[in-house]
Amino acid sequence: VMKKFVPVLVALAAAATAHSAFAQAKPEDAIKYRQAAFIVMAKHFGSLGAMANGKAPYDAKVAAADADVLAAVATLPFTAFGPGTDKGAIKTEAKPEVWKDADKFKQADDAMQTEMAKLIPAARSGSLDQLKAAFGPTGKTCKGCHDDFKSK
Ligand code: HEC
Repeated sequence: VMKKFVPVLVALAAAATAHSAFAQAKPEDAIKYRQAAFIVMAKHFGSLGAMANGKAPYDAKVAAADADVLAAVATLPFTAFGPGTDKGAIKTEAKPEVWKDADKFKQADDAMQTEMAKLIPAARSGSLDQLKAAFGPTGKTCKGCHDDFKSK
């Protein structure tokens, strides 16, 4: 799992170095960064989901490794929605509401971080039951935000 994602993580790390320069950077740099961060987050979130839903065998080590990635990346996409990044030279699926209704977007981010803060220890616990209990509520916060703020 990790091997495949090393190139993405390297790209992400390179983007992270440029992070403080977002204000002056081209909007597509921020768009690429947040999309890459979402892809990495979703990959490891999906791995936990497969185990929680019985589609992959439960492996406590894999779950703990997924948790480590989530702990590192789950806040990163939300650092790259600054003003002026609603469009750029590459396509974004972020709706204009992200900026028009910034308070609500922030609440949707906070809701996810709250559930993620429970999912991460659950995924590290070695207990499939704890993982199952924490996965669903976190998934709802992804969908909740996408319904309002992400185009299909
Ligand atoms: C607070 C809002 C919000 C939350 C919470 C959220 N997302 Fe997203 N997500 C977005 C937006 C907005 C985009 C579109 C980004 C863009 O294209 O610029 C997106 C894009 C994505 C993408 C597409 C990336 C790409 O370009 O290929 C994936 C995958 C994704 N999110 C997964 C998730 C998962 C999994 C969760 C929960 C663990 C989650 N998101 C939580 C708002 C959110």
